[in-house]
Amino acid sequence: EKGGYDYFMLKEIAEQPKAVADTLLGRIDGSGSLTLDEVRIPPRVLREIDKVVIVACGTAFHAGMIAKYAIEHWTRLPCEVELASEFRYRDPILDAQTLVIAISQSGETMDTLMALRHAREQGSKVLAICNTNGSTIPRESDAVLYTHAGPEVAVASTKAFLTQLVACYLVALYLGQTRGTKWGDEIRAVIRDLSSISGAVERVLGTMEPVRKLARTLASKDTVLFLGRHVGYPVALEGALKLKELAYMHAEGFAAGELKHGPIALIEEDLPVVVVVPSPRGRSVLHDKIVSNIQEIRARGARTIVIAEEGDEAVVPYADHLIRIPVTPTLLQPLVATVPLQVFACELATARGNEVDQPRNLAKSVTVE
Ligand code: M6R
Repeated sequence: EKGGYDYFMLKEIAEQPKAVADTLLGRIDGSGSLTLDEVRIPPRVLREIDKVVIVACGTAFHAGMIAKYAIEHWTRLPCEVELASEFRYRDPILDAQTLVIAISQSGETMDTLMALRHAREQGSKVLAICNTNGSTIPRESDAVLYTHAGPEVAVASTKAFLTQLVACYLVALYLGQTRGTKWGDEIRAVIRDLSSISGAVERVLGTMEPVRKLARTLASKDTVLFLGRHVGYPVALEGALKLKELAYMHAEGFAAGELKHGPIALIEEDLPVVVVVPSPRGRSVLHDKIVSNIQEIRARGARTIVIAEEGDEAVVPYADHLIRIPVTPTLLQPLVATVPLQVFACELATARGNEVDQPRNLAKSVTVE
């Protein structure tokens, strides 16, 4: 049932292009518009929303962090993202004009369920993004957008994450379309790019051998740091989470702009630091700033592992290891940038002799608070 792979995780990583394509299937019509019939919150209600709040845990929370960039950019609605376990204990400000989005692969995560119940008690509408048909979270929500990743068996979430991202982009674009805000050429172009993104994920998967090789050389390290900016920041957090879960290594993700406010003190000779580089096109200021960050940490002895777009030559002189990803619009980059980090963590776990599909102390769905 592992389809010839040693672990479910490897199988699920390989299934990502299909999972992404399946999650898009039937949701973009021939003219390039979105049709999301499953979102059963009337357009009239969606037009009156004045705030979006996303609640989720773990990897799903990282998807939510990325969704915030997309929602705010394409809809101009303020969007907050919060760990479900923190949410209801701080008396959050919610009302009927708040759209709450609960993201969960299993649909059974107790923290997320309690957060959405709290939101509904305050009169907010809840939209679930979920991978498990008929599970509790979608059952208790006002509407659901299912991700079509298929069953995810490995404890570490991979294909569910990519499909959560796709679902979040669809919701952001749908809200933009319904509300008529910023619905211009950029959005149409993004919908086009989204339709072909599974091919880009496939291409990344085809280039992972050097990443595996590199991971094996790092098996005896104690710490790996991850840096990113903009949507690359949650990607860095996700890379660090995968490494903690699977390799039981100390791993931390930072917003690259925060380096000089503290974390740069951690940099020492030969410390592996993975850097997710934003596209040099579009928000090029961010790109240039992160290139300076790479220079700074390398000057202090870090071993730089750089994930950058094809054709980005500015990073070449400062990358000890360079991992190329296809050119994608800035907001969609996490769909391709996360894949090498999953492969990296999986290979490190194997090299360290860990149980990949069932890491110690973890359960696939956390049904207690
Ligand atoms: O089923 P959910 O998406 O609600 O689960 C949330 C987290 O428990 C989950 O993403 C966890 O962080 C994974 N093990 C990450 O790989």
